[in-house]
Amino acid sequence: MKKFATIAGMVLLMWVMFTGCDSKRKPGKIYMPDMAYSRSYETYAEYDSSIITNDPSDKGGNKIYYNSQPVAGTIKRGELFPYTIPNDTNGYKLSATVMNPITEMTKAEMDETARLYNINCAICHGEKGLGNGPISTSGKIGGIANLTLQQYIDMADGTMFHSLTYGRNLMGSYASQLDRKQRWMIVKYIRSLQPKPTVEAAKAVAKTDSTAIAVKK
Ligand code: HEC
Repeated sequence: MKKFATIAGMVLLMWVMFTGCDSKRKPGKIYMPDMAYSRSYETYAEYDSSIITNDPSDKGGNKIYYNSQPVAGTIKRGELFPYTIPNDTNGYKLSATVMNPITEMTKAEMDETARLYNINCAICHGEKGLGNGPISTSGKIGGIANLTLQQYIDMADGTMFHSLTYGRNLMGSYASQLDRKQRWMIVKYIRSLQPKPTVEAAKAVAKTDSTAIAVKK
């Protein structure tokens, strides 16, 4: 009798072992859904809408909430911190106080920025920033800024960045085409297109404006 019980027990155990998990893809009865369906990011996994929801109001209960979006505030590796000044009149004024985090660029970075400028901006502003790109000369869009004028020499880096981020009147936003670092680098590149103040001009400014920063030769 004892022998029979042992054999029966072994047969039962084998049956459990072989039928319990015949397919990993289709588990039998799920008593711990978090183990069967990972809450973590599964790159190419297909999601079963009866189990996973991306509607925040639907979460809880049996459904697992997953929206495949990075957590709010996530910053890409190597990316600069987000620009938080809002797109309004006050924000535009405030932008002048933001310093350009790019202070120097190597020759290779300068060449890359020239490439980005020529792709994105030269069509309107012209290769040299004179506001004479093909769209400007065609007359399709008026009022394209000549970035070499005094008004843009005087414009703060932060304000240019602000306008590139949010757009300005007929110029659209470049936030989706150029990342933050690229936008700051382009601002720096615009500076290289602008005429350098002559020593005489700098002296004249220094005489009339005590706050002006002396320009080195
Ligand atoms: C579709 C044409 C067009 C393109 C492309 C374009 N701009 Fe402009 N941009 C304009 C116009 C028009 C203005 C004048 C906006 C105004 O003040 O009304 C302007 C203004 C500016 C200003 C001054 C912003 C201000 O606050 O007054 C800067 C700086 C500038 N552009 C840089 C760029 C850069 C850099 C790019 C490329 C990433 C670019 N633009 C692409 C049309 C364009």
